[in-house]
Amino acid sequence: MKNGKLKACLIAITGLGIMWASSSAVAAVEKRCTAGGVKVECPTQSDADVKKAAEAYGKEAEDFSEGKGGSTYGIAPFDYLTGVGKRANSDTKTYKTDSGYGEAKGSYKTELWDRVKKPGVTNEETYNQWTNNWSPKFDTTLVAGADPTQGKQWYYSYCIACHGWLLHGDGPSAAELNPRPRTLTRGDYMQKKTNLELFTIIKGGGEAVSLSSSMPGWGNLLQDQDIWNVVAFIRAMQDVPPPKSVAEYLNPKSTFKPNKGDVDALNAATNKDFKEANELMESDMAGRGGPELVGGGYVEGGSRKKPNEITLKVGK
Ligand code: HEC
Repeated sequence: MKNGKLKACLIAITGLGIMWASSSAVAAVEKRCTAGGVKVECPTQSDADVKKAAEAYGKEAEDFSEGKGGSTYGIAPFDYLTGVGKRANSDTKTYKTDSGYGEAKGSYKTELWDRVKKPGVTNEETYNQWTNNWSPKFDTTLVAGADPTQGKQWYYSYCIACHGWLLHGDGPSAAELNPRPRTLTRGDYMQKKTNLELFTIIKGGGEAVSLSSSMPGWGNLLQDQDIWNVVAFIRAMQDVPPPKSVAEYLNPKSTFKPNKGDVDALNAATNKDFKEANELMESDMAGRGGPELVGGGYVEGGSRKKPNEITLKVGK
């Protein structure tokens, strides 16, 4: 056990609200798949589904390298990166791509390219189109002080490899993981998880909540607000089925109901459990801590807001 870990364990034993046991496999197995402290069935995809998803991702990558592009794995008509509806395959005109991937027939292109072509569009607007297009613009949030649209962007940068395009735990690496990532959209499971549990595992990794270390910690990469935004995104996707239309994709209807008294981005600064968990995690992270709950810091830039600047209404 590293010194930092040992320290963390000792602090945990003194009675903190979160579990921070040793990272031994046995402890992890015993505590696996609890929700709200109660042992529950681990929601995962079947072997067959995970395998199918991995193959679809593989085909996607292959198509892309051959200049064909591809739909988001199995979720026609969505483009892998943009999430924007593709044109119908009957569009066989050849286009010069703006992305630097040469030329391709119509089906390669998405609706997005038309929008980018609009006269008078600046670079910044083009960037915003990209990010906003592969993010449904949520106009409400289910976590006060956190913005799911921003969270979605982090999710698609860092999490899909394992957790999958739609949070179903079927990313291209999922089949090789044991335990496998859970289905983060399963309401019967996720509704019982506290925001603090989600924040802690994302920031500190699986070990921070006695789960598998194959869930990495992101606290040295993402700032606390980014993590809250990701939590808000996960909450926004509860029980949301694979979209069948662009409209459905852009307006996912989550079943999550914020739990009374739960910590959120807005009240975190004054929440005792949060502060203790956060200090504990940061004690084990190089170059962390300090009076401001900023955290992270390696990912700079972007229009990151403070919790009280996020004006999204809490609710559906
Ligand atoms: C290398 C693969 C991998 C990556 C990348 C990854 N995760 Fe995980 N994650 C896992 C695994 C495996 C588990 C399940 C751990 C367990 O049950 O012991 C997990 C568990 C979780 C859980 C807990 C779910 C539960 O059952 O309580 C959350 C929340 C989560 N991950 C969010 C994220 C987010 C957000 C990101 C990106 C910032 C991310 N993960 C990136 C592998 C990964």
